Amino acid sequence: MKHRKKVLDDVWKELELGLEKSKHPFHIFTLTTINGDFPDSRYVVLRNVNEAKKTIFFNTDKRSNKIKHIKENNNACALFYDIVKKIQLRLYGTIEEEKNLDILKNIWSKSREMSKQCYLNKYAPGTAIENSKDYVNNNLDMDINDGFSNFAVLKIKIDRIDWLNLSHKGHERLMFDLKKNKSDWISP
Ligand SMILES: Cc1cc2nc3c(=O)[nH]c(=O)nc-3n(C[C@H](O)[C@H](O)[C@H](O)COP(=O)(O)O)c2cc1C
Repeated sequence: MKHRKKVLDDVWKELELGLEKSKHPFHIFTLTTINGDFPDSRYVVLRNVNEAKKTIFFNTDKRSNKIKHIKENNNACALFYDIVKKIQLRLYGTIEEEKNLDILKNIWSKSREMSKQCYLNKYAPGTAIENSKDYVNNNLDMDINDGFSNFAVLKIKIDRIDWLNLSHKGHERLMFDLKKNKSDWISP
């Protein structure tokens, strides 16, 4: 049986690796938000990890539905699965939008052109369009950095981590309460 502290240290270590390596299974995660009575899930890319602040970050379009959801209810769950290590992580917490303009500008400036391009789309994500490519902005006067006005960085402040390790020797599951700084083994 692994030491609980080592499990938690490994969680943060693997999240950091997910950040650095695009092929790492934690590079992309499923984010679930609440839309009224219904959960809604989608994949997003892990963009930053701050262990000290127990926070993970991702980028999105300000006009997207997930932003509307979190304005009503900012509870969220981030789901990760490492198929090689057979580790599932469920991170429960609350989402906040980064409002500091300097921080936003700095993150934007480090974004790749390809990523910046998405924020130039003519219509908000989820808007009905006549033809599949009608969202493309053909305005030649537009600069790639004009997309900044649609750019948002969201932070998930993690309160609980549900760690599940599948193993032929017997599955193991630990629940970390980061607020109370305690952990409990639970039945998988
Ligand atoms: C592999 C993958 C990575 C994605 N990464 C992001 C991302 O980092 N940010 C984002 O807003 N959408 C990302 N998307 C698109 C979302 O899954 C989703 O379709 C979009 O954000 C609209 O979601 P919403 O209507 O729930 O806001 C990604 C999709 C895939 C398949």
